[in-house]
Order: sequence, then C-alpha cells, then structure tokens
Amino acid sequence: MTSAGQILALARRAVTAVAALSLGACCREVGRFDQAVSLTDPRVPDGGPVDASCSQFCARAFFRECARTEVSACAAETVDGGAGVRCTGVHLECAQFGAVCGRRTADLSVERDADKLGALVALEAEAIAAFERLAKELACFGAPPSLVDAARTCAEDERAHVFMLSALAGRAPMAEPEHEQLAVRSLFEVALENAVEGCVRETFGVVIAAWQAEHAESPAARGCYAQIAEDEARHAALAHEVEAWFDARLTEGERAVVALAKRTAVVSLKSEQRGARDDSPLGLPGPVVACALVDASFAPTA
Ligand SMILES: [Fe+2]
Ligand SMILES: [Fe+2]
Repeated sequence: MTSAGQILALARRAVTAVAALSLGACCREVGRFDQAVSLTDPRVPDGGPVDASCSQFCARAFFRECARTEVSACAAETVDGGAGVRCTGVHLECAQFGAVCGRRTADLSVERDADKLGALVALEAEAIAAFERLAKELACFGAPPSLVDAARTCAEDERAHVFMLSALAGRAPMAEPEHEQLAVRSLFEVALENAVEGCVRETFGVVIAAWQAEHAESPAARGCYAQIAEDEARHAALAHEVEAWFDARLTEGERAVVALAKRTAVVSLKSEQRGARDDSPLGLPGPVVACALVDASFAPTA
C-alpha cells in the first residue's frame, strides 16, 4: 500500500530532481532544422498542399515532443524526383505553458474560466463532485465505511481548496457543481476512473502542487499549494487504497484493462503538458519541466 507520506515524499523528490536540471528558463533554442521533405513523408501521413498549409506541414514533419516547433521558412523543392518542401525552423523549449492536474469524473461538465486561476478553481470544484460520487458508489458496492468516509473527507478537502484558491484570486468561491444526479456505475467503470483520475492524475497533482509550493511568486500562493500538496497526497493514497479494494473484486481481464488504462493515462498526461498556458505567479511549470516531472513521477512504475 502507498501512504500519503510516501506519495508526498516521492513528489518532493521529483520536484527536487527536476529543479536541479535547470529546465525552467523562458524560451530557449534546443534544435534547428533545414531539410527537404517529401510530401509523402510518413511523418505527415495525409500530406498536404504546399501553398497555404506549408508551415503546418513542416511543423508536423518536425514535431518534437515537449518542445515548440517554429517554422521560419517553407518552400517547394523536388525530393527524389517527387514533390516536396524545404522546411527551415527551430525547436524551442518554453516556460510559457503550465500544468494542472486533479480528479475529474465522467458525465460532469464544469464551466472553466479562461484564466489559469479560474481553471484551477474549477478543477477543484469538479473534484468535490468526483469524491462525493466515489463515496456514494463505494457505499453501494459495500466497501468498508473507512473508505467511504475517507472519500467524503477528500470532498471536504476539495471544498477547502475551492475557498483557498478563490480567496487567492480575490473572487467569490465558485458554486459547487451539481452531483447528486450522477449515476452509480459498475464497479469496473469506477475502478477504471479511479485508476486514471486518482492513481495517475491526482498523484501527478501532488507533484505539481509541490512544485508550486516552491515556485509560486507570493508567500500566500506558496502556502496554499503547500497545504494542497499535503491534502492531495492523502487523496492519491486513497486512490491506491481504493484500487486495491477494487482489484480484489475484478476479473483478471478487467484488471488488465485497468492496468492498460493507467499506462495510457500517463502517456496522455505527458502529452497534455505541452498545451497548458503560462501563469508564472502561480508557479506552474513550463512544458519541459512538466514533462520531466511526469517522467520523474511515473517512469519507475509505469
Ligand atoms: Fe484539490
Ligand atoms: Fe484532490
């Protein structure tokens, strides 16, 4: 079993290890390309015209995980007797994105503000519904009262997070999403969601919160995230505890699907880190650091 203390210690080790790599600078060039590419190049399976979409073609041909591809020139050029383009550009690693992570639940749509702090509050609010639903479903499955109560306590933590972050944003607390009408699902469906949202996403949420606790600009934000990291470590530990209880009730095939879903969730999580937007006052890591944090958090077990 993985305890909250072990998860928080792992998160802090990941944060320290990645910080030591000094990956968090603003944009820096990490590679160049100046190469002719055939329009039938397998990196761009559906090819494309060379005119208006030339830059997009090059960006796809020179896609690089966890880096931004900027195309500076694109011109038609014959490649091996066929149509092609010469792509010129650079790969940049930029700290202008951010990473957020938390527990969500299916069938629930929570409106997200356009700004980063608003999105973080909405994620915490969604987690309230996710834990209330988990508590209800665990009770229906006949799980031990200690697990049901722990899920309800997590929902209370998430309510506190909504208040803390709303106060940080200087706005009224976001209303709690409607969750009473969310259906009770099969044990397998809930096990899948718990594996992805709890064992992977909330576990990474601990790492991100631990990072923010060290890198947010204001003492108030650092204090908020230090508390959130501790709480989220308990939530992630509960996810692992619930997973063990579910595992004993799943078939071998179902357990294999859950294990595959977790591995896939780690890959998706890493991919997501490329797209979030910058908010340095909150201490959110850029894509390069965030990808490294995913690796540091899951590589040994994924
Ligand atoms: Fe939270
Ligand atoms: Fe949480």
